[in-house]
Amino acid sequence: MLDVGCGPGRHARALAERGCEVVGVDISLAFLRAAGEGRWVRADARRLPFSPRGFDVAISLCQGGFGLLGGRDDAQVLTQMAECVRDGGRLVVSAFSSYFAVRHLEEGDTFDAATGVNHERADVRDPTGSAETFDLWTTCFTPRELSLMAAAAGLNVESIWSVTPGDYAKRPPDLDHPEFLLVAAV
Ligand SMILES: C[S@@+](CC[C@H](N)C(=O)[O-])C[C@H]1O[C@@H](n2cnc3c(N)ncnc32)[C@H](O)[C@@H]1O
Repeated sequence: MLDVGCGPGRHARALAERGCEVVGVDISLAFLRAAGEGRWVRADARRLPFSPRGFDVAISLCQGGFGLLGGRDDAQVLTQMAECVRDGGRLVVSAFSSYFAVRHLEEGDTFDAATGVNHERADVRDPTGSAETFDLWTTCFTPRELSLMAAAAGLNVESIWSVTPGDYAKRPPDLDHPEFLLVAAV
């Protein structure tokens, strides 16, 4: 499996514990160092350094690059991931929900209706626990947009579920969960 934007390896390690062979990719060396033992590669999700069709599955969960890059670059991440997966394999990506973002816009957040980008100020802590506040821009999607992007990347959409991080379940798309989970066949 390929975990794109793996961060400190949260999902990659959980999958490895269940017997999957996982390679994690992230742009942040600090996160990869924090991930500890495992197979980690520093790379940009827009230019994945792998031979085509080498993985059974590619995942990108909780905005592992996808959703952080803006319109055309997000599409490129999907295309790059699709190229890494063998025929008949799967691609699984989670994405912020535009419906939820607008419906539950938090105080201080702004949502750009033209681009679907949500802006927030977020506290990020270093390993010592000291926090700094950063601007955070996240592109949000509707299921229809995800379907169209997946089709443009040559993927066959199998399902789109409404999910909450840490609570993945097969719920049809709704307005009440913060993310959508796209499952597509290559
Ligand atoms: C919100 S974290 C999610 C991490 C992990 N998937 C998880 O669920 O714990 C987003 C991750 O995407 C990575 N990232 C952002 N832009 C990226 C890019 N262009 N290429 C690869 N990784 C990227 C960040 O460094 C960060 O580790």
